[in-house]
Amino acid sequence: MSVIRASRKPWRSNTRRAALTNASRVRVPRALAGARPVCDGSSLRTAIDVEIYTELKSASTSTTFPRTVELADRHVVITGAGSGIGRALAIRFAAEGARAITVADVDLDGAEEVAREIGGVAVRTDVSREAEIAALVARAREANGPIDLFCSNAGVPGPGGGPEASDEEWQRTWEINTMAHIWAARAVLPEMLARGEGYLLSTASAAGLLTQIGAMAYSVTKHAAVAVAEWLSITYGDAGIKVSCLCPQGVRTPMLATALEDPIGSVPLLAEGLLEPEEVAEAVVQGLRAEQFLILPHEAVSRHMALKASQNERWLTGMRKLVRAARDAQSSS
Ligand SMILES: NC(=O)c1ccc[n+]([C@@H]2O[C@H](COP(=O)([O-])OP(=O)(O)OC[C@H]3O[C@@H](n4cnc5c(N)ncnc54)[C@H](O)[C@@H]3O)[C@@H](O)[C@H]2O)c1
Repeated sequence: MSVIRASRKPWRSNTRRAALTNASRVRVPRALAGARPVCDGSSLRTAIDVEIYTELKSASTSTTFPRTVELADRHVVITGAGSGIGRALAIRFAAEGARAITVADVDLDGAEEVAREIGGVAVRTDVSREAEIAALVARAREANGPIDLFCSNAGVPGPGGGPEASDEEWQRTWEINTMAHIWAARAVLPEMLARGEGYLLSTASAAGLLTQIGAMAYSVTKHAAVAVAEWLSITYGDAGIKVSCLCPQGVRTPMLATALEDPIGSVPLLAEGLLEPEEVAEAVVQGLRAEQFLILPHEAVSRHMALKASQNERWLTGMRKLVRAARDAQSSS
């Protein structure tokens, strides 16, 4: 491992401090200020509105809070780290001074190569099997103590097309792209909750927020991965567990080659521009530092999300147009 830095600050203190700072800045409208949750449903709804309003208000009035989430001296486990984004994360986390990095992948050769490069430990792990994730967690803990950051990054493109894909293909895509994140949380959370701190990073995809044209199973399982991360963040945030969800669009990795084979699905990917895995790793480090839930390395994704949320029919019409244009281009070539 490259650098070991001494000052290690608990992640949980950052949010508490930020929350206090936020709370002192927020002004709640007088009409809502006295609302308290009571058994009556309408009052409870009002109280929930106050909470959400308070968060929205603090987000819009906040400038930058001092954040100290650093990777130095952390113990990190990354799945799918033998290639692409996972490999770039492993190399970048090592450069940031992580104390120990476990490089997990079903492709042991790839994992060993990365582990050699960064002085980490390679573990062959098939994340489609819960027992292998549990064994990975146990082995990492035994070798290097409590896990600070677990990155559920391994993923597969799944079958192309829609519902016609076989149940076996759907099941495999579901297990790797979604269930693996749940199994990882099941394995690491009890110990993290007992310590009162820990960080989970999920690699989902922009397809989990928008859609992946031409790949229904990928879109559905990545939407579910985003939902898993959101649920964990909402449920365990106050217990010191941080969650970030990485949602890139096209990234130049071996997996992208599969997506580009689809002449229709590849159109939006290429139109928005491809990033290098190292650029995604940079966005992740910045996102973890800011304890940001959604990490969106492609700027266009938040614009598309805003359109989808505010003008859903227009967004759907635009997506259909994109499919038609890609089909027309394909048939005339
Ligand atoms: N490349 C992109 O354009 C892009 C865009 C959005 C999201 N993503 C997501 O990023 C993640 C990483 O993908 P990538 O682009 O780096 O692809 P990649 O193919 O370079 O890396 C994926 C890695 O996951 C491993 N893997 C596959 N199945 C596994 C299993 N069952 N158990 C353990 N490891 C397994 C592979 O061996 C490979 O090393 C995936 O979750 C993918 O869905 C990729």
